[in-house]
Amino acid sequence: MNKKDLISIRDLSNDAILSLFEIANSFNSDLHKRLKLANDALMAALFYEPSTRTRMSFESAMLRLGGQVINMTDPMASSASKGETLADTVRIIENYTDIIVLRHPSEGAAKISAENTTIPVINAGDGAREHPTQTLLDLYTIFREKGTLEGVKVALCGDLKHGRTVHSLAQGLSRFGAKMICVAPHGLEMPADLSDRLIRKYNAEFVSYNSLQSAPLDDCDVLYVTRVQKERFADPLEFESVKKSYVVSKDTLKKCQSDTIILHPLPRVDELDYTIDDDPRAAYFRQAAYGVPVRMALIAAMLGLVNVSTLKENQVSEVTGVITDNICGNPRCISRNEPIAKHSMYKMPDGLLRCSYCEKYQEMS
Ligand code: NCD
Repeated sequence: MNKKDLISIRDLSNDAILSLFEIANSFNSDLHKRLKLANDALMAALFYEPSTRTRMSFESAMLRLGGQVINMTDPMASSASKGETLADTVRIIENYTDIIVLRHPSEGAAKISAENTTIPVINAGDGAREHPTQTLLDLYTIFREKGTLEGVKVALCGDLKHGRTVHSLAQGLSRFGAKMICVAPHGLEMPADLSDRLIRKYNAEFVSYNSLQSAPLDDCDVLYVTRVQKERFADPLEFESVKKSYVVSKDTLKKCQSDTIILHPLPRVDELDYTIDDDPRAAYFRQAAYGVPVRMALIAAMLGLVNVSTLKENQVSEVTGVITDNICGNPRCISRNEPIAKHSMYKMPDGLLRCSYCEKYQEMS
């Protein structure tokens, strides 16, 4: 059997996502029971970037399944500080554990890890690229609160350029036929290569606004808010100029429907006013709590402890060919730092090339 990795939300079929939700429901009904399902399994949490919810909910999920956890949470205290490559690190760690959960600042880090280890790799965030497990719990929250994903209208608000949660979520929502309203300050809009791909592949519906004031919030079922991703800005002045450009407050909620839910992957900084926490529509703490049952279901599926059919998305590939030995132009791409990277580029229908690691579009070099 091929090893299962979760690098992108595209690695899961819609059916797999829905069956993971069913499994998560069953775990959620008695979360405090310590199961014996993963008694023989060990999980390594490799976190090269800060994390509270993702790492701890993964650890909690594995422990509740009956498994054990080893972790690396400070890259400066690991051999990465001596210059060890990620590929070498995961190659070694496969001897210590059964599954790797990885968070890394470089785009494509989970993919190169998966290529260089024989055990399953779960992407817990690779730079600004993707965060597929956050998307699973985001979709799960919408599904539980709204009863469906199909046709749901979701306003994605915030730093849509650098936010990996929204990059994965937009793909997941498009696949389930949800409609998206993008609300981002000037300069922080959703990357056009991603939205164009979703429109082409799934007929995705996007409409865009540059402020909460101008967006049709009275017409959405979900308002998904994200923080400005300070750590991704090359220019601190640029961050300063946008950091307080949107705030969801009691006044914002007045414009929403009485059953519009407010989601946020958290942590929040300035963009979600504390005064709305008591509003029943504020669902972000419920959303964060779902991280445990959803990650329990995912770990169990990836270790083959529960049966989830058609794990892979059954997709028609848009790729028309592959070019090798083409160095990626994205300075944040993992392939720039890992000597073992294959440097392959996919040829896309619009004549452009797409890096096989960071998925950024490039001109022919
Ligand atoms: C998100 C992340 O790390 O991308 N946090 C999380 O995993 N819950 C969002 C963020 O940091 O803004």
